[in-house]
Amino acid sequence: MVSRLLFQSFKRFNSTYKGPGKSYLPPKPIDNKPTHKELSPAQRAYLDRVIRVDQAGELGADLIYAGQYLALSHNKKVKPIIKHMWEQEIHHRKTFNELQTQYRIRPSILTPFWKIGAFGMGFATGFMNKEAAMACTEAVETVIGKHYNQQLRVLSNNFKDIENLNNGQNDDSIEIQHLKGTIKVFRDEELEHLDTAVQNDSKNAKPYWLLTESIKGVCKTAVYLAERI
Ligand SMILES: [Fe+2]
Ligand SMILES: [Fe+2]
Repeated sequence: MVSRLLFQSFKRFNSTYKGPGKSYLPPKPIDNKPTHKELSPAQRAYLDRVIRVDQAGELGADLIYAGQYLALSHNKKVKPIIKHMWEQEIHHRKTFNELQTQYRIRPSILTPFWKIGAFGMGFATGFMNKEAAMACTEAVETVIGKHYNQQLRVLSNNFKDIENLNNGQNDDSIEIQHLKGTIKVFRDEELEHLDTAVQNDSKNAKPYWLLTESIKGVCKTAVYLAERI
């Protein structure tokens, strides 16, 4: 059992999925010359929060699917479905890891708890049965889809007035445009996961309401904490 767990974890890091084929990292400024005026302290603080919470969230998603994949690895029908979603989460996680490094943002100090909690939640629901695992996915992706939409609203409304140093006008900096593009792609993939869960009988989980509502509560609390701590 332990060796199998290690083997699966190792395979995770060898995932070759690269997303739909373009870079989601902002381009580095030419000659290190900024194109836009610096972000205000409030904008900078919000950006820090976005990257910290999204990195923690994608780390959690990666480990939820890792736990589900392990618990359901005997199920030939469901295994490839979970693997596909898992690979996309690994790509999301790697992207936010790189953004975190690029922007020099510290990770959530609760990271060890996110790791244990997420893997435990994935494994426990997968161990119950396929329907419970899919109900977990439905609940998580519902919360994350809304969370990403909320971030996109703020990034669209509060970041469009940054002075462009080349033409003196105010617009979106390339970094913010890239970040919004990345979040949009990831948001769409999370919503695909939600559809996949419903198509694979998430609604037949028992007890459906208790399971999904409690997992949504856990996710919302985790988002709240990871943004701040
Ligand atoms: Fe994700
Ligand atoms: Fe997802």
